[in-house]
Amino acid sequence: MQMPDDRPLSRLGLGSYHVAGVYGGVDEENFVRLVQVARDEGVTLFDTAPSYGEGEVWLGRALSCRREHVLISSKFLLPPETTPVNVKAAVITACEDSLRRLKTDYIDLYHLHYDDESMPHEPVIESLTLLRAAGKIRRCGLSHVCSQRLETYLASGLFSTVMMEWHPLASSPFFRVAKQAPAVSLIGYSVTGRGLFTGRFNGPVSLTPGDIRNHDPLFRRENLSAGRRIVARLGELGRELERPPTQLLVAWALAHDQIACVLTSTTNEAHLRENLAGTRYQWPKDALTEFCAFVRQVREDTRLSRKQTVERLLNGTVPTDVTSARRDIIYVLESMHNDDAIPLHVLMPLFGQCQKASKLGDLELIFRQLQELAGPPA
Ligand SMILES: NC(=O)c1ccc[n+]([C@@H]2O[C@H](COP(=O)([O-])OP(=O)(O)OC[C@H]3O[C@@H](n4cnc5c(N)ncnc54)[C@H](OP(=O)(O)O)[C@@H]3O)[C@@H](O)[C@H]2O)c1
Repeated sequence: MQMPDDRPLSRLGLGSYHVAGVYGGVDEENFVRLVQVARDEGVTLFDTAPSYGEGEVWLGRALSCRREHVLISSKFLLPPETTPVNVKAAVITACEDSLRRLKTDYIDLYHLHYDDESMPHEPVIESLTLLRAAGKIRRCGLSHVCSQRLETYLASGLFSTVMMEWHPLASSPFFRVAKQAPAVSLIGYSVTGRGLFTGRFNGPVSLTPGDIRNHDPLFRRENLSAGRRIVARLGELGRELERPPTQLLVAWALAHDQIACVLTSTTNEAHLRENLAGTRYQWPKDALTEFCAFVRQVREDTRLSRKQTVERLLNGTVPTDVTSARRDIIYVLESMHNDDAIPLHVLMPLFGQCQKASKLGDLELIFRQLQELAGPPA
């Protein structure tokens, strides 16, 4: 895909979510060094967001020279105090703030991070159009938006990219919608499944207390077992094809004809180089067909098993310690969302409440809301 000024979008992009400390400690010097290694190796896309801790500031510093050779992607959110009448001002202020933190005059790809369905979409489109006309953003993108609003946004013709989670267990409703908009490129994130599909969690999962994966449904129950099944198959195929499994994983993610680029984040140069090597590998056709069928089967087995787990959890009671209660509720919440039982505009506030809840009583209230949303037991 060609971007503004004919700069190509590299097949691997480097993210900066980890700068928020979600996977453990980070240091700026190492981050800057890895951004420069990636750039020297041909990576053109660097993704960040205001919610990624110091991500925008560090990325701005790392890319301050040769700015014109790279594409910076950042995102915006409407702050909680936004009302339908001040959406435009909120988007413009968010963009000005990002430009200041990034120390740049323009953002190449500016994504709506989470769509707020309680707000009209027209002022979002109008403000992005204004920002583009002023040269402050070059292209617009979307992420975390329900399929219906995605169609509405894409119909405006303003959006060039859609970001979506893309790994073997990701549910992918955007593929269908994006098919109707061939000019739109899909950017897949979390391609290593936050490390799960690299095999580094094959033994007991031991994470530091602040690590977001402690509550991540991908690292629990049938999802974790399914992740290990995928890793085992990648290992077998890796021996046959004489390729490290993680390279096969990255190459598989890029083999989807609608995926233009995949994003990973890393603190480790060897991991970066491994992910880059994956972009240069092409699966033999038969092996790819066989692995895609295997992935579809694992995904379907996992979906069915997860449905049963969710029913069982909803028919039971909330665990009596806050940590286990929060984990189970997040598991149910995300699983119901993936099965279309909870729309995005219901998911997001409940998810926020769940993260903030410090008392069991608050979590029990959320649990009861989920029981109501699920309806009576089958
Ligand atoms: N639009 C959105 O809402 C959205 C949502 C999520 C993410 N994103 C973007 O996408 C980027 C990537 O997402 P992500 O952080 O979830 O990506 P990810 O690459 O799936 O997960 C990062 C984790 O995987 C590990 N890892 C990466 N490559 C590895 C390898 N070759 N071998 C072993 N471990 C490896 C990293 O550990 P090490 O540090 O040890 O390598 C890190 O713990 C984010 O940084 C962000 O910019 C966007």
